[in-house]
Amino acid sequence: MGKYEGRNVVITGGSSGFGLATAQLLVDEGARVLITGRNRTALDAARDRLGGNAVAVRSDAASLPDIEALADRVKTRFGTVDALFANAGVNGFAPFEETSEELFDQLMAVNAKGPYFTVQKLAPLLAEDGGVVLTTSVVNVLGLPMLSAYAAGKAALRSMTRSLARELLPRGIRVNAVSPDPIDSGILEKSMPRQAAEQTKAQMAADNPMLRLDTPAEVARAVVFLAFEATFTTGAELAVDGGGSQL
Ligand SMILES: NC(=O)c1ccc[n+]([C@@H]2O[C@H](COP(=O)([O-])OP(=O)(O)OC[C@H]3O[C@@H](n4cnc5c(N)ncnc54)[C@H](OP(=O)(O)O)[C@@H]3O)[C@@H](O)[C@H]2O)c1
Repeated sequence: MGKYEGRNVVITGGSSGFGLATAQLLVDEGARVLITGRNRTALDAARDRLGGNAVAVRSDAASLPDIEALADRVKTRFGTVDALFANAGVNGFAPFEETSEELFDQLMAVNAKGPYFTVQKLAPLLAEDGGVVLTTSVVNVLGLPMLSAYAAGKAALRSMTRSLARELLPRGIRVNAVSPDPIDSGILEKSMPRQAAEQTKAQMAADNPMLRLDTPAEVARAVVFLAFEATFTTGAELAVDGGGSQL
């Protein structure tokens, strides 16, 4: 019997990267997972890989109607949710002077507004000892070039982790954040040409104290720890970054 047999988990942005790695780890341990994303082909591929204990729902994290429909779907499918991983996110690189209103709004809508309302709409379904994990980033405390809007969105999430942890505490629900960096998840290739992504990854690995990139499986283990095992931890942010934010 798997460690998480009978547990129900919702993972937004679960069709690739470490959302998918987290879903895989949990399914392997017996949990039932519901993953979301926007791309139907990627969702179907992820569901096929995860097997019968997974359901894949197309849902845009930036859309309130989609989030409300997701909550209805989760209620019908699971009734109660043991863990919610609000992980859907996008990257966007631009110098401050060239950051457009469109890019700023997109990053805030997906990376900050999305998790906020995902937790709000799914909170009524969370079990008394449920765990919520948000995906922040080490950039939320660093002043890095090209990432001002992305970093601001992730800093908003850091704040929400604390506020929502306080407000959901009376129900016994813990809210924490995982702060990974840098991961070879494929996310960079979605926002820049492949050659630039390869150069960026090589530079990030060279700059990291452990001289390598994070792996999706390493982040997944931290997420599962926060969601299920860290029973005296709430409002915290766990860095999974090879020491990059500390050393
Ligand atoms: N990779 C890194 O180095 C790194 C570091 C720190 C933090 N992060 C954060 O980690 C999270 C996961 O990233 P990843 O590296 O695993 O990247 P990824 O492989 O690109 O995964 C992102 C996931 O989010 C989904 N997604 C994106 N926009 C969405 C939207 N509007 N609605 C619903 N789903 C959406 C994607 O599916 P669709 O595209 O099909 O929608 C995909 O399932 C993000 O929040 C990212 O900001 C990444």
